[in-house]
Amino acid sequence: MKRSIIEFAVLLLWAMNASAGTVIKMDDQSQLPKVPSSKPLNNYFKPPLASELPNNAYGELVRKGEALFVNTKVLAPQYVGNQLNCANCHLDRGRKALSAPLWAGYPMYPAYRKKNNKVNTYAERMQGCFQFSMNGTPPAADSEVLNALTAYSYWLSTGAPIGQAQAGRGFGEPEQPAGGYNTANGKKVFESRCIICHGENGAGQKVGASYIFPPLWGKDSYNWGAGMHRINTAAGFIKHNMPLGEGESLSDKEAWDVAAYVNMHERPQDPRLINGDIELTRKKYHEGDGVNLYGVTVDGVLIGQGIK
Ligand code: HEC
Ligand code: HEC
Repeated sequence: MKRSIIEFAVLLLWAMNASAGTVIKMDDQSQLPKVPSSKPLNNYFKPPLASELPNNAYGELVRKGEALFVNTKVLAPQYVGNQLNCANCHLDRGRKALSAPLWAGYPMYPAYRKKNNKVNTYAERMQGCFQFSMNGTPPAADSEVLNALTAYSYWLSTGAPIGQAQAGRGFGEPEQPAGGYNTANGKKVFESRCIICHGENGAGQKVGASYIFPPLWGKDSYNWGAGMHRINTAAGFIKHNMPLGEGESLSDKEAWDVAAYVNMHERPQDPRLINGDIELTRKKYHEGDGVNLYGVTVDGVLIGQGIK
């Protein structure tokens, strides 16, 4: 809670030439395999310090990648369809354990993913976050943007074991509480612990044109195909990382309840929508994808209609 608004609002302004991306319909947002422990530890892998970065062409590319990761919307607007930055979900610039840190992700690719039934490269994995989490158009695999983001991830994982799941990978999802989740209680948690930053209607808060507190639902948020729309994934992120600066302060049940409350609200449509049909899309992409409310009717209202 002590972080200043300035810190969030710092914008690095330099332009990048990025080659135009193609729209890639990625079928897969399936969840990461379980990692050794989802309990917070104090001996996670330590990525290198910024001061260790060499002053050469490599260092420059890594710095470009870091800036893109933190200020994605400003520096790569052509690929971002909402108002988020990568670092809004991958906290501490992609360094924080249990916030899908890049040092744990990068060494696990290429990786087989069951839904699209192929081995995915690291670039393809990042394209998935551009298409769904950023509700955008993914940059081409050989674009400057993905090259720089890859270099940044590669550097953060200097010295990390290759191809071995490390503790702290992903979002460390807590088990669903016995008796399930409760969105009415989730609303209460939201109002007492989240609204102060994320605002009324989860709409986030801006200073000037930029969000200092990102939106949790609505047109500027992640879309219905994003991993964060799964209640189990969001519960893990929230449990370990929110309220910002007070991670681990909610119970598993509170984290699940508020994750369900957030993820029962409308957001941009799943870009994989089949023939405009929510039920077909639910069956194909959401039925087997963790716990989610896409295509489910709650209190007489069909969830997953999308918002523009
Ligand atoms: C002190 C302010 C603060 C509070 C309180 C807070 N958050 Fe956040 N939250 C943030 C900030 C800032 C980010 C982006 C982090 C970054 O960019 O480093 C964020 C990111 C998120 C994200 C991922 C990005 C997005 O917009 O989807 C989710 C989900 C989230 N918060 C949910 C919650 C929930 C649920 C609560 C209440 C339990 C909560 N937050 C309380 C400040 C806060
Ligand atoms: C709205 C939140 C959100 C935003 C914004 C976001 N991501 Fe992600 N990211 C996720 C989720 C959720 C996962 C999947 C974790 C899982 O499957 O359990 C993920 C996974 C990843 C992974 C794979 C991690 C691993 O361990 O295999 C990479 C790499 C990644 N994201 C990069 C990015 C990049 C680059 C951006 C910006 C272009 C970005 N993400 C923006 C939520 C987000």
